[in-house]
Amino acid sequence: MKVVLIGFMGSGKSTVGKLLSKKTSLPFVDLDSVIVEREGRTIPEIFREEGEEFFRELEREMLISELRREGSFVLSTGGGAPAYRNNMEVINSLATSVFLYADFETLYGRISGDGNRPLASLEKEKLRELYQKRLPFYRKAHFTVDTTGKTPEEVAEEVISLLSVGKGKPNQEGQGGQT
Ligand code: S3P
Repeated sequence: MKVVLIGFMGSGKSTVGKLLSKKTSLPFVDLDSVIVEREGRTIPEIFREEGEEFFRELEREMLISELRREGSFVLSTGGGAPAYRNNMEVINSLATSVFLYADFETLYGRISGDGNRPLASLEKEKLRELYQKRLPFYRKAHFTVDTTGKTPEEVAEEVISLLSVGKGKPNQEGQGGQT
């Protein structure tokens, strides 16, 4: 099974992804780390030196090539990936997607001033707009987990139980995604 975690910055995709990987023994892949490794530059450096559009194209290319890999894995994506071109359709056709939901104020508290996230330096209202703009894309995920008030451990357990055969309610007319 290929599991893709999506959600806004600060929603816990990487933390939950690592826990999921540990609990399920599926390998863990972090899309941002794949990009950093391939480029030999940090995400802020790529944004600064090449601009966001370059980053998005690279992110899309890496996303597709990771999703096409043989075998099972847990992949955590950057917060902007689902909202670029038809990335969400690509994700849903090649894997099972899980949206880690958190409200904006919670996320803002976690990410504001994070120097490793170029977009986190946007002013609060701009970030809120970005969050609102992205929600409809995240909502296309096969499954949603509301992370409010839950530890990463609890979120990981919930993802596991959602993905287990016969459990949980998929978001889209019985489409639980590919197994
Ligand atoms: C981004 C989120 C980041 C990273 C880049 C852009 C975004 O990943 O891909 O800074 O557009 O939301 P995280 O969601 O892991 O912070």
